[in-house]
Amino acid sequence: MLRSVAPAGTPVEITQVLRSAAAVALSAREDEELFQRLATRLKVRHVFGISSGRSALALILRGLSRLKPDHRVVAIPAYTCFTVPAAVVHARLKIHPVEIDPATLDCDPDGLENVPGDDLLCLVSSNLFGLTNDGARFRAAARVKGAFFIDDAAQALGASRNGCPAGTMGDAGFYSFGRGKALAAVEGGVIVTNSDDIAAAIREETQNLASSSVLHSAELLFQMLVYSVFLNPRLYWLPNSLPFLKLGSTEFNPAFRDYRMSALVRELLLRQMGMLDEFNRTRRENALVLAGALEGNSSFTKPRSADGCLPNYIRFPLIARDEATRDRAVRELRAAGIGAGPFYPSAVCDIEGIAPHMALGNFHCAKAEDLSRRLFTIPTHPYVQARDLHTVAEVLERF
Ligand SMILES: Cc1ncc(COP(=O)(O)O)c(C=O)c1O
Repeated sequence: MLRSVAPAGTPVEITQVLRSAAAVALSAREDEELFQRLATRLKVRHVFGISSGRSALALILRGLSRLKPDHRVVAIPAYTCFTVPAAVVHARLKIHPVEIDPATLDCDPDGLENVPGDDLLCLVSSNLFGLTNDGARFRAAARVKGAFFIDDAAQALGASRNGCPAGTMGDAGFYSFGRGKALAAVEGGVIVTNSDDIAAAIREETQNLASSSVLHSAELLFQMLVYSVFLNPRLYWLPNSLPFLKLGSTEFNPAFRDYRMSALVRELLLRQMGMLDEFNRTRRENALVLAGALEGNSSFTKPRSADGCLPNYIRFPLIARDEATRDRAVRELRAAGIGAGPFYPSAVCDIEGIAPHMALGNFHCAKAEDLSRRLFTIPTHPYVQARDLHTVAEVLERF
């Protein structure tokens, strides 16, 4: 039997999708229950449901721009999802990349402190793989510069640092519900903030957003059903062998559409919320087994999670000794049916076409560039079984 473990994901039951569709069909009301539950869980006063994480970020940026119209620069981690610089460009702002500390995947402390404050609108974190960033340091650096701090927890729902949920450490934060996230509803994003002023500015931006069209809702329903069936390792080989699906590809595309969170996404997330902690516990346990298996293997380094950090490990990140080792490890893991993958293909500074959108002339960040050549990830999601972890250990032991 072909077995192929997806790089990341969240199990979604077909019955959950069908019940969500039925709930949407039977009720025309705007149900706030998801947002109320998130507000309670995250201890935030304001929650907005949006079409995606990138739209969530762009709308926060537009809201903050209303409060500080002369501040046009957004400092983002030099190694993060390409949708982050895309959202900055979408909001018609300029990018300042901040160097990365490869030991933690957080921003390098000197890099953060050295961001020029003059026309800085905000600093943005990344919380990659649910390894929570040092929110206190971001907050302090932002305060000194008179800028805001946006806590990007697209990957980090359920992770925390010193008891504080990722996504809530800044002036505003956001989450994503795309395919590989802690809770996956194919698409969706949520903005959170405790500031009434920022919430009012964001409301100005969101109140005229269109709703998801009927056609789009039908497409979404189809994609959710496909996702719920094909994430299973017994079937994942099929979509994985179709290159036109571009699974796992990362594109820089600032021309995306912003709209309200679809009712179907809202209903599915409501049905999944109760499983979030269980899913994250499984991911953490799998990460622990992988970390144990790699102890003493000098070909790979595991980024460290800081004291007080409770990661969600939506993937398990590893840094190979060099690019050739990384590429060989990914190749051999994939041949063994494990959805390992190099992560973002480059640092933000090397994205094709990014130069005109940079706030400064010389914008290369050497550590982030090096990281992009050596980082790869291993699946941790609830479909990963003990035998898969054993396969990973066996493959990586050869190095
Ligand atoms: C760190 C980070 N920020 C923002 C986003 C954007 O989220 P979305 O894909 O829902 O637009 C992602 C998505 O992968 C991400 O990983």
